[in-house]
Amino acid sequence: MILYLKHKIMKDLNNLNDLLLSQISSLHHAEIGWQKALRQNMGKVHDPELKSLFEKSSGKSVDHAVKLEGILISLNKGIHPSENLVVRELINQANAMVMESNTPEVLEAALIASHQQMNHYKIASYGTAAAFAKTLGQYEVADILHKSLLEEKLIDEQLSKIATGKINFLAKSKLLVE
Ligand SMILES: [Fe+2]
Repeated sequence: MILYLKHKIMKDLNNLNDLLLSQISSLHHAEIGWQKALRQNMGKVHDPELKSLFEKSSGKSVDHAVKLEGILISLNKGIHPSENLVVRELINQANAMVMESNTPEVLEAALIASHQQMNHYKIASYGTAAAFAKTLGQYEVADILHKSLLEEKLIDEQLSKIATGKINFLAKSKLLVE
C-alpha cells in the first residue's frame, strides 16, 4: 500500500548514507508527486496509445514508490520523505503548460515533454542512488534502484516514439492551421 506522506525539506547530510537516504526520499517525492499530477491530467488526454502509456507509467510510479518505501524501512530509517525543490518546480511547470495549452494536441505534446523531463530527472537520481548504495555495500538496494532506472528508461523511450512518430506532428499541424 502506498503512503501519501507530506514531504519535508531534508537536512543534516553527514555522510554517503545520508546522501543515499536523501536521494531515495527525493525519488519518493518525484514518484508520488508526478503520479498525482499525471492522474489529475489524465482525463485531458485523448490519444488512446498515449493514455495507455500514461496509465502504465502511473502504475509504475506507485510500484517504484512502494519499493523506495521498502528500502527506507530495510535501512531501519523509517519513512521520512523529503521534498525536492526540482521535483516541485517540474510539477508546477507541467501544470502551467497544461493550463496554457489551447488544443488537445498541444496539451498532449506538452504533457509528454513534462513527463520526459521528470523521467530524465528520475533516471539521473536512480543512477546516483544506485551508485551510492553499491559503495555502501547495499547491493540488493542497488539492484532494486537499477531495475527502476531501467523501467524509467523504457517509458521514456516509448514516449519519445509516440511524440516523434505522431503527437508532435499533430501539435505542429494545429499551429499551422491557426
Ligand atoms: Fe518511476
